[in-house]
Amino acid sequence: MYDSNPTLTGIKTIDESKQGSVLFKEQWEASHLPGSRKFYIESYGCQMNFSDSEIVASILADVGFAPTRNVEESDLILINTCSIREKAEETVRKRLRFFETIKKARPGTKVGVLGCMAERLKKKWLEEEQLVDLVVGPDAYRDLPSLIGGTEEGHRMINVLLSREETYADISPVRLESNGITAFISIMRGCDNMCSFCVVPFTRGRERSRDPYSIVAEASGLFEQGYREVTLLGQNVDSYKWSNPETGESVNFARLLEMTAQVHPELRVRFSTSHPKDMTDEVLHTMARYENICKYIHLPVQSGNSRVLGMMNRTYDRPWYEQRIEAIRRILPDAAVSSDIIAGFCSETEEEHQETLSIIEWANFSMSYMFYYSERPGTLAARKYADDIPEEIKKRRLNEIIRLQTAVSLRHNQADIGKTFKVLIEGDSRKSDLEFCGRNSQNKMLVFRKQDGLKPGDYVMVRVKDVSSATLLGEIVEG
Ligand code: SAH
Ligand code: SF4
Ligand code: F3S
Repeated sequence: MYDSNPTLTGIKTIDESKQGSVLFKEQWEASHLPGSRKFYIESYGCQMNFSDSEIVASILADVGFAPTRNVEESDLILINTCSIREKAEETVRKRLRFFETIKKARPGTKVGVLGCMAERLKKKWLEEEQLVDLVVGPDAYRDLPSLIGGTEEGHRMINVLLSREETYADISPVRLESNGITAFISIMRGCDNMCSFCVVPFTRGRERSRDPYSIVAEASGLFEQGYREVTLLGQNVDSYKWSNPETGESVNFARLLEMTAQVHPELRVRFSTSHPKDMTDEVLHTMARYENICKYIHLPVQSGNSRVLGMMNRTYDRPWYEQRIEAIRRILPDAAVSSDIIAGFCSETEEEHQETLSIIEWANFSMSYMFYYSERPGTLAARKYADDIPEEIKKRRLNEIIRLQTAVSLRHNQADIGKTFKVLIEGDSRKSDLEFCGRNSQNKMLVFRKQDGLKPGDYVMVRVKDVSSATLLGEIVEG
């Protein structure tokens, strides 16, 4: 269902029941002065939040903070938070209770809340949570050094100003928890859509696109350091739009994809998330022209029923979504498509839920992130519609969706048995150091026995022998 693997693409939500990932970069710490101040950071939510933590690490490095994996030795504890569902916020509150015990044992340690929950709750944090010293919204990270300075003088500090311009374009992220092969690049921030269920436009502010030349420079730098795959990140990458007021030059998402693909034929390019209303045939044709643009599209449908999609304010209906899938099939016959799905949105009937099941089957999603509806304060849906589907029904519908998607994923994978794919080796498989794992263009994870002379970052041809609903098992064959 959810996925906490940071190497997967997707604007994904990590399993909120699990502890957030602890970010760390060993080589970087090794080169740091002993005795400098240490920070510890945990990240929750989508990949953009994880990327933001790498920007935060870079800003903190400039003022002498080194990262630590050990919260008990940190001078500054940061939690980069997510507001997308109520459960995500509950997890953060629980972690704060734990940090309280650390702070008691080590007075002087400062605790900061970053990210979407900081933005949503603003100064309520300082009223409700006595242990929080610092509240910083997603557009205010440049201000961290001076805010931290304020906390060191005994103040409680807050900056939750949203910006129309900030893209952190000039900041080189410190790659945390990296496998050295795959990396994420934020290409835009915020969201101008107003999906009625969604808190993101409130927590992330207005949509703005980052200078394409800074994106290409980041991708080139990563390639030179040995990275072989970049994922371009945005809440709605298809509405990427940048123009130079002086020259009049204008770059849309298709052009940005092309520019990134031209960095090097050995650098794979992925992207996430695509919005069905904005995904153009021009993007699909660009994908078709470049072998190194991966044939994988994360195209969240949310619901299979047009009335529900209307209430969700997704601005497309089922026939529109189907016509986008047909365009993908026509232009990119080998592409895999995945989705996000919400069960039990306001007033959804059993028949409408059946239509969500039928679109999973019809679209043949390779996988989906699946959730039941969680009302978020302040959103359009919270203001206009009753959250009237009882929790047991939401959960039952979600389970039906998960069961069907698991079967569809298995079938999708079974169709790959006997096929040979070009795979980028990412590292050892989770289960054994005798095996490598890596993805194919369609974003499926393959596991296969190692061979002498091969290392992470190499491309190999792998033939699929067996599958589960989540993984393909294969063997290396001659390219
Ligand atoms: N920008 C992306 C999605 C970002 S949020 C897009 O438009 O597709 C990731 C996913 O969380 C969404 O696609 C949606 O499926 C889910 N989600 C968002 N708000 C939710 C809510 N209030 N309750 C349940 N799921 C939600
Ligand atoms: Fe939320 Fe919709 Fe924007 Fe995605 S496109 S972040 S679901 S408002
Ligand atoms: Fe991402 Fe969660 Fe914010 S999904 S944009 S971290 S609300």
